[in-house]
Amino acid sequence: MVTAGVLISGSGTNLQAILDRVADGSLDCRVAIVVSNRAAAAGLDRARRAAVPTRVLDHRGHASREAYDATLVAALRGAGVELVVLAGFDRLVTRVLLEAFPGRVMNIHPALLPAFPGLHAQRQALDHGVRIAGATVHFVDEQTDHGPIILQGAVVVGPDDTPETLARRILEVEHTIYPAAIQLFAQGRLTIVGRRVRITGERDEPRPLLPSW
Ligand code: GRF
Repeated sequence: MVTAGVLISGSGTNLQAILDRVADGSLDCRVAIVVSNRAAAAGLDRARRAAVPTRVLDHRGHASREAYDATLVAALRGAGVELVVLAGFDRLVTRVLLEAFPGRVMNIHPALLPAFPGLHAQRQALDHGVRIAGATVHFVDEQTDHGPIILQGAVVVGPDDTPETLARRILEVEHTIYPAAIQLFAQGRLTIVGRRVRITGERDEPRPLLPSW
């Protein structure tokens, strides 16, 4: 069992996927707090519906990113958080947060990293002409969308895909791999070894993943 704090900025569908798996008993996690930097984030309602405490911590009015992160750390520690889950949180985090939760901050990105970090990843992938796209859950380090990769899931890109249709399909993958990654953490099965993450008891056999054409 792990106590998590989830940081959001927007719709919170990843948060919802996590809450659903907590509710159905398949994720050994207690979401102790949901923090949003935006008061209008729809994800806050999702948290309230699940009776999870919420905080709105506006990033504006802080002297620096570090000062904002110190506020986040105080709120997360106050809620007894062990694992910080960034789920559509639109702020860059600093070493103030990372040093408070070493090896315990996760993020999800809608691309197969290290391809297409940053904003509009799905559009970047389409513009580049990739045939396979996907999503990545990774531990956070000081570079954007860069830390050790925990899980990835792939989708085939179709000839008629738009950034919107691709984003929708990638989001379905996100909703599977994010709770799965948190469950692996909760089970104590993740070890960071340099850039790689070892999963104790990993069952997957390496195999080709081929679309048909
Ligand atoms: C997701 O695509 C996630 O990968 C990215 O931001 C989006 C958040 O969506 N970091 P939601 O708020 O979880 O619906």
